[in-house]
Amino acid sequence: MARVLRDGAFEGETHIVTGAAQGIGNAVATMLAEHGAQVVLVDLDPSRLEEAAQEMARVASVSPIAHAANVTDEAQVQQAVGAALDATGSIHGVVNVAGITKDARIAKKSYDDFKAVLAVHLHGTFLFTREVAAQHWHPLFKANGNEPLDDGVNRFVLNFSSVSARNGNVGQVDYTAAKGAIESVTKTTAREFSSYRARVNAIAPGPVNTPMLEAVGEAGIAAMGRATLTGRIAEPEQMAAVICALADPLISGYITGQVLQVNGGMYLA
Ligand SMILES: NC(=O)c1ccc[n+]([C@@H]2O[C@H](COP(=O)([O-])OP(=O)(O)OC[C@H]3O[C@@H](n4cnc5c(N)ncnc54)[C@H](O)[C@@H]3O)[C@@H](O)[C@H]2O)c1
Repeated sequence: MARVLRDGAFEGETHIVTGAAQGIGNAVATMLAEHGAQVVLVDLDPSRLEEAAQEMARVASVSPIAHAANVTDEAQVQQAVGAALDATGSIHGVVNVAGITKDARIAKKSYDDFKAVLAVHLHGTFLFTREVAAQHWHPLFKANGNEPLDDGVNRFVLNFSSVSARNGNVGQVDYTAAKGAIESVTKTTAREFSSYRARVNAIAPGPVNTPMLEAVGEAGIAAMGRATLTGRIAEPEQMAAVICALADPLISGYITGQVLQVNGGMYLA
């Protein structure tokens, strides 16, 4: 994968990435690791995760840590963040990527599917964000006499919305609800986490070439490409590059509470 920032841009930092076994999460974690971060990979299946960690270790300067967890399970998320802290001593960033789709029009949408999609995207994002604050950043703030953490340490939360949050998408009432909520959560988190001097942003990708799009089929993917101004769907590495830029305080030190549209011009906000 091409390096997009200076060598060692994230050296000495620990970044948690959820949904890291495949797709965008995998590309994000790989690119952060290539820039020197100690990445903590979270996903459901331990063996797929271990495979991803081994593959990533070939390009990472610090060996990735694999931690299987379901982002919707409060105890597992608490455990994952605790283990990351025990192993590294400090967490600098969390990238909430994990996601699922269960597309069906509203009339045929089961309540269980609706809740499952909300749970992975919205509850998962909340749980990881809360745990990093509760176990690490808030105690630092308390120890600093409840004064803002002006210690120059890079801290960030990066969330995943979607172009469909603002544009709507047939069959995705649950997914678009979750993504719209994640945009609001991003703004509230940015306000609260200013005390930790953590920047909190989201990206809203257009269609990206990952297993998530498999259900759409070849013709559907071609149509999505035509609906952009670039004429094609994106590759996961293009999302990873934007995440690296948002994680980098030299580029994005004055950006917080924002949702960046990375959609090839599919929707002009
Ligand atoms: N691919 C796209 O076109 C597209 C467009 C806009 C936004 N997004 C968003 O980008 C993010 C990544 O999407 P992707 O295309 O890489 O998807 P993907 O399906 O390829 O990968 C998602 C990963 O999340 C993991 N995951 C799912 N549920 C989980 C859970 N409960 N706990 C832990 N891990 C879990 C899966 O195992 C998988 O490895 C998602 O939030 C998605 O909504 C994707």
